[in-house]
Amino acid sequence: MRQGETARIESEHDRLSPALLAWLAGESLAGSTVLDVGTGTGRLAVALAPRARRVLGLDTDAGALVEARRRARRAGLGNVLFIVADAETADYRTLGRPDVVAAHLCMSDAIVARASAGLSRGGVLAFAAFHADQWRETGRVSRFAYEEERARSVLREAGFRVEQLEVERRAAEFGTADEARQATERFRAKWEADGRWAGWERFLAEGGRTLTESRLVVLARRT
Ligand SMILES: C[S@@+](CC[C@H](N)C(=O)[O-])C[C@H]1O[C@@H](n2cnc3c(N)ncnc32)[C@H](O)[C@@H]1O
Repeated sequence: MRQGETARIESEHDRLSPALLAWLAGESLAGSTVLDVGTGTGRLAVALAPRARRVLGLDTDAGALVEARRRARRAGLGNVLFIVADAETADYRTLGRPDVVAAHLCMSDAIVARASAGLSRGGVLAFAAFHADQWRETGRVSRFAYEEERARSVLREAGFRVEQLEVERRAAEFGTADEARQATERFRAKWEADGRWAGWERFLAEGGRTLTESRLVVLARRT
């Protein structure tokens, strides 16, 4: 294994998308309400709050929101609110009439539709989603994953103009199957539960020694 490959996989997995952060840095958020859907522990919400009028983070996982509130308190932010809600069914207009809907690794056609209904003309939908190539070595594509053409078509049909679209992709390479297993140990329980681990073992048994991480990052504007 290349030196530090395990650590790299962990840090990449934990890193907010650089393209998403850069594109949102180019948007004037002063005076804006940002809705961070699937906020989890509030990483994106807290990163954006210093530049926004206010940020609402929503998630179905009340436990993650406890940590999100702690994170906002630690950062001394008074303009972030976290609420338990389902991003696929909520009416975003009743959630502070957002100017920007942002999402990091929580995206679906239903969320695109909700964002379309909740944003006014010129409003921004900016997200990083799992790309269909994410962990392709495990043989299973997440039902939340997108590839470029499908994302473009879903967004167009929902009334968005795509202004930025990029795929962030890295492939780790391992010297041996054991090194590959060791690097992915942190995912093992989850992958065993969703059937990915068996596919990963098959890939390793056939001599595969790579693991692909891939995200589709988009900034689109409501027309
Ligand atoms: C991979 S995590 C990403 C969390 C966070 N955005 C980040 O990057 O740190 C996906 C999050 O989406 C949330 N989620 C999944 N489906 C959801 C839904 N329908 N409505 C709200 N949150 C949802 C999960 O609870 C989880 O916290």
